[in-house]
Amino acid sequence: MDKLRVLITRRQIAAKVAELGARISADFAGEPVLLIGVLKGATIFLADLARQIELDVSFDFIAVSSYGSAKRQSGEVRLVKDVDHSVEGKNIILVEDILDTGLTLTYLTNLLQAHRPKALKIAALLDKVSRRMEPIRGDYVGFQIPDEFVVGYGLDFAEHYRNLRDICVLESDSNTA
Ligand code: IMP
Repeated sequence: MDKLRVLITRRQIAAKVAELGARISADFAGEPVLLIGVLKGATIFLADLARQIELDVSFDFIAVSSYGSAKRQSGEVRLVKDVDHSVEGKNIILVEDILDTGLTLTYLTNLLQAHRPKALKIAALLDKVSRRMEPIRGDYVGFQIPDEFVVGYGLDFAEHYRNLRDICVLESDSNTA
């Protein structure tokens, strides 16, 4: 039986998402932005963040697969679904649930940069700085968290727990990589 311990409450998340939305609204004042969510973990964050941005916002989604166990990545990232719209000349905000090793966002920023966006920024709700393998940092980061496996608010373990309203640490016997 999995045990869940609340790490970040829904109230803390809501306040932080509002803060990030306000920063994005100020940074891109008067300009449209295209939010590109990384499926599936970023969907809930993207939905909330979009409603906190007071600009002309559109959405797109991208999907990657990474190999390894359910909780640890092997380092290989592959594109599963590309964006539907051109990113050339646009203000792009890549929206991700968590920056962990940084492999996913390094891969995706290189991919998108090649299509010459006007601006390319990263919004990540969570950041596990101690796990980083690539020198990448988020521009709009919600919370720095310790190296613990978290679920909720879009984040899953084997597709479970994405609908939890708080971000929780998953504590169980199976919590070993
Ligand atoms: P990165 O490429 O190592 O930065 O990994 C990013 C992806 O790993 C995220 O989009 C998540 O899908 C997954 N991930 C990393 N840490 C966690 C976690 O604590 N809980 C759930 N998924 C995680």
